[in-house]
Formats: sequence, structure tokens, C-alpha cells
Amino acid sequence: MKKDRSLGALLLLSLAFLLPLGCGGGGQEQSAKGTEKSQQAAETQAAPAQTQPQEATTAYTPNPEHGKQLFLQVCAACHGPDAKGLPNLGKDLTTSKFIQEKTDQELLAFVKVGRSPTDPLNTTGIAMPPKGGNPALTDQDILDIIAYLRTLQQKPIP
Ligand code: HEC
Repeated sequence: MKKDRSLGALLLLSLAFLLPLGCGGGGQEQSAKGTEKSQQAAETQAAPAQTQPQEATTAYTPNPEHGKQLFLQVCAACHGPDAKGLPNLGKDLTTSKFIQEKTDQELLAFVKVGRSPTDPLNTTGIAMPPKGGNPALTDQDILDIIAYLRTLQQKPIP
């Protein structure tokens, strides 16, 4: 019995020692993890811009149906719901030699930067805004839109 009690006391004592130690240690670990995390966050924030185009080229199969929905939400304002263009806003995209000649990746790059009126390639004097003015569009969203535009092409390149 006596042994048990002193054992118990020992246990309590060691607990009393261990607890604050444990907490202190844990706290340090946590704050270390915290900085690690924010570093990671900074890294992952910087990463997508570099990795996304690669992902898009390698393993992505575009979805033209989704592209149509996005087109109607974002691009139709200037290019018209049928993509035939609207006067003084956007060009006809159904007979566009530009679209027919470019690869998906080239069109993706184009839509991401747009075409300012000062661009020598600009034919209307009107700006095509980057991503059609919707910065939330991802590379995959834009590839979906491009896949949809491909389904609309009417005149083959002469
Ligand atoms: C604010 C109006 C506006 C919006 C929104 C817009 N565009 Fe444009 N877009 C233009 C204009 C204006 C041009 C023609 C620029 C020029 O004169 O070369 C153009 C040109 C283009 C071209 C080149 C066509 C060619 O034959 O040269 C493509 C492709 C295109 N837009 C795709 C898109 C897509 C995809 C979206 C939606 C993500 C979009 N645009 C949204 C105004 C817009």
C-alpha cells in the first residue's frame, strides 16, 4: 500500500513537471508549424501561376458544355450569345481565321492577355479585355470556352 501511494505521488509529480513542459514544447512546435504553414501558403500562392498551364496542357480534357455556359456569362456580352459578334463590342468568333489557325494553347494565352486597341493585331480599335474581364476564369475554364468555340466554327480556312 505504502509503495502504491508513493508511486501515485511520483506519478503526480512527474505529471506536474511534464504538463507545463508538454504545453511549452507543444506551443513552440505549434508556432514553428505556424510559420512553416505560412511559408507553405506563400509558396502555394505563388505556385499556381507556374503550374497551371502545365497541368492544362498535359492531362486536361476540355468540356465544351461548361465552356458554353461560361461563354454566355462572360464573353457573350461583347461577342453575342451566338458568338457572331456585336456591333462596336466584339468580333464574330464563328468565322474567325484567328481561332481556326491557333492551337488551343495559343488561344488560351491570347484570352489571358486580351488585345488592347494599341496592339498592331487589333482590327476594331476596341479592347478585348484579359480573360474577357473576368479574372476568376481558370486556364481550364478558358480551355472549356475554346472547346466550345471550336464547335461553332463555320468556314474552314481557305
Ligand atoms: C468587353 C468586350 C469583350 C469581352 C467581354 C470579350 N471580348 Fe473577345 N474581343 C473583344 C474585341 C473588341 C475583340 C476584337 C479586338 C480586335 O480588334 O482585334 C475581341 C477579340 C477576340 C478574339 C480574337 C478574334 C479574332 O478573330 O481576332 C477572341 C478569340 C476572343 N475575343 C475571345 C473572347 C473570349 C473567349 C471571351 C470570354 C472569355 C471574350 N472574348 C470576351 C471584346 C471582348
